[in-house]
Amino acid sequence: MNEITILVLTVTIALVVISLWFGRKKRNFPPCPVFTLPIIGNLLSLSGDQRSQYRKWRKKCGDIFCLYVGSKTIIVLNGYELLKEVIIKRGNEFSDRPVSSFDTMAGSVGLGVITSSGKIWKEHRAVTLNILRKFGMGKNLLAERMQEEVNHYLDHLSSYHGNPVDIRLITRTSLSNVMCAMMFGQRFDYIDAKFNTFMAYLGDLFHYFYLNSFTDFLPLLRHLPGDFFKVKLLKREMKELFQFFNVMVERIREDSTQESVISSYLEELERRRKSGEDTTMDQENLLKFIFDMFIGSSETTPGTIYWFVLYMINFPEVQEKVFAEIKENVGTERVPTIQDKTKLHYLHAAILETQRLCSLAANSFFHTCLQDTTIQGYDIPKGAYIVPCLDSVMYDENIWGKDVMNFRPERFLDPDGHVHVPEEFVPFSLGKRICVGESFANTALVIYVSNMLQKFQFLAVDPKNPPSMDYQFGLTVLARSYEVKIVAREN
Ligand code: HEM
Repeated sequence: MNEITILVLTVTIALVVISLWFGRKKRNFPPCPVFTLPIIGNLLSLSGDQRSQYRKWRKKCGDIFCLYVGSKTIIVLNGYELLKEVIIKRGNEFSDRPVSSFDTMAGSVGLGVITSSGKIWKEHRAVTLNILRKFGMGKNLLAERMQEEVNHYLDHLSSYHGNPVDIRLITRTSLSNVMCAMMFGQRFDYIDAKFNTFMAYLGDLFHYFYLNSFTDFLPLLRHLPGDFFKVKLLKREMKELFQFFNVMVERIREDSTQESVISSYLEELERRRKSGEDTTMDQENLLKFIFDMFIGSSETTPGTIYWFVLYMINFPEVQEKVFAEIKENVGTERVPTIQDKTKLHYLHAAILETQRLCSLAANSFFHTCLQDTTIQGYDIPKGAYIVPCLDSVMYDENIWGKDVMNFRPERFLDPDGHVHVPEEFVPFSLGKRICVGESFANTALVIYVSNMLQKFQFLAVDPKNPPSMDYQFGLTVLARSYEVKIVAREN
């Protein structure tokens, strides 16, 4: 590069930075809680624990505030009323997605369900819900496959014979295996090498997504030497994941004797093509859809079960009450099934309280708007990254009472002991983008924890010093790793 080119480049970059800087100042954006540096904006303030940061910033700025990274604007929305106003009532304006690093890593933008918008999203969301509904109805294939998997999981937990163990990985593996049974019509052995590589890749995607997503805001970071933002690693692993999905799709295409989500997708695709319908369903969207289903499920439901066990260790009186309810209504001779849910009010309340208190999807997933608009009189630029802060609702004292920080399942029970779920309970978000796996997750939570608590007692390794209920913040809010003693109950 000669000197003139360097000079021109420097001046151009400086002009872009200055115009962005002053452009923002001229517009009436929501308040920004921290000092904004040129180019990197508030990147440094965002890299820590966003849960406590956002709470502090809400106190300082109110229900809506804004942050900047690179050329992107992030708008954080807090409180149920504001979320309802923007995400539900104005859902047509605010239900699209900005480009996500999942797309950048996959090398395909806006396919499938999670990160798509417009026509592709509408069609794939509807197809997904239809297929999942079909699996959860009648014979309830979903519950059947979960029940089968939970037996393998319980056998595995038994094999520790009460010795201290961290159940994070095996819980994730087991829930992903339910997904495999649904998607591919087959489960894998826990020691299957291919399956374990697949699990490790999903783990990496979750682990590094948060770090990697900074490259969405500042794409230049992708080109730094080395691989600090895990761009190369995740690209390689995603490529292999998609190759694996491709192999599974081809197998199902050739021999689809087992009913599966993929065979249902392929049948529907065929039907639409034959009838000449204009469709976005195709092989590329199918592969991204499979990826979305694994990414949507692999950390969320197991993460909630991991929190549930942690609360049971810390609140043994709740655990005993749940067990007593199972003993009274199901007994110990047969395993609990999804049909028992209506009798297990306290267990259901304990699950709801776990979901509220762990607030696993604290910041939901980015939404965006395709046009410049306003919220509460503030300017919102098109393409802004909108954060529906679900955490602000799950910890709202005005909804849950002064003891919001406590684990108290009774808050979900009415005076007759029946479950009551307030409208403001939003672990799966709200509006048009509400999680498509909600009923899958709810079924899995009931089947897994009822079976686990019927069979075992979950005990602190050191009863005087139970594991802390601290969290690590990322794409989801996960409990810090802990060990537990799993002791078989005597009938
Ligand atoms: C406890 C478990 C779960 C929680 C807390 C959870 C939470 C969420 C949240 C907060 C969103 C974002 C909604 C928004 O954009 O406003 C979401 C979206 C999504 N989830 Fe879940 N989820 C869970 C389980 C699952 C499961 C089991 C699946 C798959 C069967 C799944 C698949 C998806 C998909 C595909 C989307 C994208 C929906 C769309 O963009 O239209 N999730 N989930």
